[in-house]
Amino acid sequence: AALLALWTLLGYLLGSVPFGLLITRRLGLGDLRAIGSGNIGATNVLRTGDKRAAAATLLLDGSKAAVAVLLARALSGPDAAQAAGLAAFVGHCFPVWLNFRGGKGVATFFGLLLALAWPVGLAAAATWLAAAALLRYSSLAALLAAGLAPLWAALLGHGDLVLLTIVLALLVYGRHWSNIARLRAGTEPKIGQKLEGKA
Ligand code: G3P
Repeated sequence: AALLALWTLLGYLLGSVPFGLLITRRLGLGDLRAIGSGNIGATNVLRTGDKRAAAATLLLDGSKAAVAVLLARALSGPDAAQAAGLAAFVGHCFPVWLNFRGGKGVATFFGLLLALAWPVGLAAAATWLAAAALLRYSSLAALLAAGLAPLWAALLGHGDLVLLTIVLALLVYGRHWSNIARLRAGTEPKIGQKLEGKA
């Protein structure tokens, strides 16, 4: 139990590094919090117009969760890996450094899932890509990918990940209320489109 607590703390700390904010600040792209949705994730970094910064944010936010999972698994086993992954996700969404106002967890969700069970992670990422290609909404693609992840876990022989992916899906939905409201109102911007004002 002490070991799980330790991995939860380490996962949280890794997850709480806000790469989107750090990268955009470093590049002088302006205050991410005042752009588009105000979110710190790759989707909103893309609204600065800098595709490479958005790709780097996606990669680094995903990697921090993957690193947490891989370290925990190598040193303490599968339960620690799940705990570290979930904690990294929570750290990204509620970082102590930003008064607990963090991101929506989508990149960390893919990173931790790829590290826990790459076929499930790939299936979830493919779901996002297919939905994004067809529908052009990052948030809706994330909602579909997260919602279907428990099904992918079950179908791909990872029953051990069903509970975790259900919890993650609920958290992803919880972080996307404003997106869901905009999708319903027809005001959600498509990928790469600016969203006027902070929402
Ligand atoms: O990854 C977050 C995405 O699903 C929505 O981001 O900035 O459009 O709220 P955003």
